[in-house]
Amino acid sequence: MTVFRALFPAEAGRYAAHLLRLSAADRRSRFMGGLCDASVRAHVDRIDWSRAIVLAALCEGEVRGAVELRLAGGSAELAISIEGALQNQGLGGVLVRRAFTMARNRGARRVELYCQGDNHRMLRIAGRLSALTTFDGGEVHCDFHLPAADTFSLAMEALDRGGSALTMMLEPAAMPRAA
Ligand SMILES: CC(C)(COP(=O)(O)OP(=O)(O)OC[C@H]1O[C@@H](n2cnc3c(N)ncnc32)[C@H](O)[C@@H]1OP(=O)(O)O)[C@@H](O)C(=O)NCCC(=O)NCCS
Repeated sequence: MTVFRALFPAEAGRYAAHLLRLSAADRRSRFMGGLCDASVRAHVDRIDWSRAIVLAALCEGEVRGAVELRLAGGSAELAISIEGALQNQGLGGVLVRRAFTMARNRGARRVELYCQGDNHRMLRIAGRLSALTTFDGGEVHCDFHLPAADTFSLAMEALDRGGSALTMMLEPAAMPRAA
């Protein structure tokens, strides 16, 4: 069973462990270049949790996928990672959809994402969400414009959270815990 929920700052280690499990190719796609283990840990250490949301997909209590959303004023930058065994099963699409709702409800009207030009899965998800894409060499900049928060977006987030609370009762290993 997959539980989707935002991680707490004390769970930064669980997020780092997920990023460190990515294959070399997925790590390159996630960070737009090669990063050693120490740099991945440093990336997580630098997260300002007062302005970032890490929305995770937990399977059997382990973080197997995550969206990192960095909020800054009326915009946000998004990066996503799904571990190899769980790719191509719809998880990425679900995480991005939920993250957009959260960004919208926190005042973001624009979300940006960078990926490599041959990242077909990411570009498929971005295309479905009407991204404005700009190709620059091997890189693609995806720009998403979000409508203002409304009753519907607030209700969507509440429903998402309610669903997560219910699935966590069935999957206690996914409960918050420091790592
Ligand atoms: C990119 C990534 C986030 C996608 O997540 P995912 O869970 O594998 O993707 P999903 O299963 O939700 O969706 C994949 C979509 O791509 C489509 N797809 C799969 N292979 C494809 C291909 N070769 N060409 C075109 N589309 C393809 C799928 O059909 C699906 O579209 P659909 O839902 O309309 O059918 C994931 O593969 C990943 O973490 N990669 C490494 C890190 C990364 O690239 N991050 C992005 C930059 S920050």
